[in-house]
Amino acid sequence: MKKIIISPSILSADFAILGEECAAMEKAGADELHIDVMDGHFVPNISYGAPIMKCLRKVNKMFFDTHLMISEPLRYIEDFVKGGADRITFHLECDNDPMEVIEKIRSFGVLPAIAIKPGTPYEKVVPYLPFIDMVLVMTVEPGFGGQSFMADMMPKVEALRKIIDTENLGVKIQVDGGIDKNTIKTAADAGADIFVAGSALFKQEDYIKAVSELRAAAE
Ligand code: DX5
Ligand code: ZN
Repeated sequence: MKKIIISPSILSADFAILGEECAAMEKAGADELHIDVMDGHFVPNISYGAPIMKCLRKVNKMFFDTHLMISEPLRYIEDFVKGGADRITFHLECDNDPMEVIEKIRSFGVLPAIAIKPGTPYEKVVPYLPFIDMVLVMTVEPGFGGQSFMADMMPKVEALRKIIDTENLGVKIQVDGGIDKNTIKTAADAGADIFVAGSALFKQEDYIKAVSELRAAAE
């Protein structure tokens, strides 16, 4: 059985008690923490930045999976490295040269990853696969939590899985947006291995139950 990675999106957490929320998610068996950064420019919403992450890093030792929905990632990579990022995902649609961003992230010993929006064809990310740790196929339009899963993104996941496996690249595939206990199976069957979920985890009463139900549904 392949390893299923559950990455709760803290965008849906209660920010007033963020540390406790993340500790509870860790205790519930989540594998990583997904940190959504929005600049109000690349996406029509503002979330939080590196200072919040840095505070969280002091009280939490989990793997920080950082998702930068920002126009100029190059300018802020160092801030997020200092904030404690373990992986930094930037958007292929950003204003910087992807190869330059990848190299900058790697220069700090952090794992680089590329995200593609629903309108971006998977072919565009293929040239970068040998240089990244993970590709994120967005299953909603980035910017907000709580949107519906776009099942029509699954052909992109399938195509990338095929290339990654055929060429033995070892790149992970992440899906983000509308993942819940019903949709996670669809994404897992298509070949995803890292599953981001905000509402389906942080908006639930019982985190232990929520994490284990998601994992069971994916397996
Ligand atoms: C959307 C973010 C997601 C979001 C997912 O722009 O990248 O990580 O928090 O939230 P849900 O799981 O509620 O769709
Ligand atoms: Zn995200």
